[in-house]
Amino acid sequence: MAKVRVGLIGVGGMGGCHFYNYEKIKDAELVAVCDVRENVAKEKVGDRNIKIYTDYNKMIKNEDLDMIDICTPSFLHADMAVKLLKKGYHVLCEKPMTLNTRDAKRVAAIANQSEKNFMVAHVVRFMAPYRYLRNVIETKELGRLIRLEMKRISAIPQWSWEDWMRDEKLSGGVTTDLSIHDFDFVQSVLGMPDKLGAYRYQMTNNNDTVVTSMIYDGDILVTCEGTWYNTSIPFDASFTAVFQNGYVELNKGKLIKNGKEVELNKEEAPKVDLGINVGNDDGYLAEMSYFVNCIKEGKKPDYVTPESSAQSVVLADLIKKKALKLRQKRNI
Ligand SMILES: NC(=O)c1ccc[n+]([C@@H]2O[C@H](COP(=O)([O-])OP(=O)(O)OC[C@H]3O[C@@H](n4cnc5c(N)ncnc54)[C@H](O)[C@@H]3O)[C@@H](O)[C@H]2O)c1
Repeated sequence: MAKVRVGLIGVGGMGGCHFYNYEKIKDAELVAVCDVRENVAKEKVGDRNIKIYTDYNKMIKNEDLDMIDICTPSFLHADMAVKLLKKGYHVLCEKPMTLNTRDAKRVAAIANQSEKNFMVAHVVRFMAPYRYLRNVIETKELGRLIRLEMKRISAIPQWSWEDWMRDEKLSGGVTTDLSIHDFDFVQSVLGMPDKLGAYRYQMTNNNDTVVTSMIYDGDILVTCEGTWYNTSIPFDASFTAVFQNGYVELNKGKLIKNGKEVELNKEEAPKVDLGINVGNDDGYLAEMSYFVNCIKEGKKPDYVTPESSAQSVVLADLIKKKALKLRQKRNI
């Protein structure tokens, strides 16, 4: 097969990241981009030989494309993914898959009926420290997992087009937009929890925090915190996983196992084999290369399936409901 011909919809924050990564993927050719803000698209494209559209219907009508990459605001994902799958494209879609369970199941059903590939860009599954952690959990290298604490904090997002991210109806808020990264990782490694508790606190200006506790196999405790702070704070994602015989920790970007830093790009590279030759530390490039590679090889992307991405939306919805119940109980 020749290069996979790609059309990219949405070239804002995340679309920009995908845009530049296509230049590093030898089996893909970015043929066209589409953004309702033509000036943003023009700025990205510069003098490259890439077509620009402001309506993706026109893009798919005029261009010969194999794959569409959806990097639009999250409230547009469900309908776009369904339409593009039905039209016969391979679809890579940014997280979250959709904003609610009903739509997630709708997209998963269509994806499963399609002969084409569909994958949600759950980048955390592809990030080296998380791949490493998955491996330690699955191989029981340090014994059984006892406790996992995951944290993801950010300043309130201010960059998005027409400020869609700060509108919970459009982005899903901190639970479905930010914490879903950790929910998806946990859910993809451990499945759905036996028990679930959730606390959420929202203040003015979209400051939002959600803390979730999940119990697995009777006594494994997993907690996830996602917070948008009402101040400028650098983004940080971290975890601590405690096992019978030690711990693995991601702290300020450093991966530590039993007190010793793990050099991911050297001998201790994570063992989860994605079948592609990409650097260990670039999850975005890894997920995109993996998806393109699956198309090239005529394989379904089984590392991130439509069902498992839908389950992460289901989990986010359950957490939101639990948190709301708690607040109603306390009459807040
Ligand atoms: N994986 C990650 O780490 C990560 C990080 C940030 C955002 N995201 C996800 O990426 C997606 C985009 O987020 P973002 O931060 O890039 O937002 P953004 O607002 O910066 O970019 C969205 C772009 O889509 C364009 N757009 C809006 N409607 C469109 C339409 N109908 N057709 C074509 N273009 C349209 C906007 O003009 C804008 O340029 C979201 O789903 C978000 O959750 C993922």
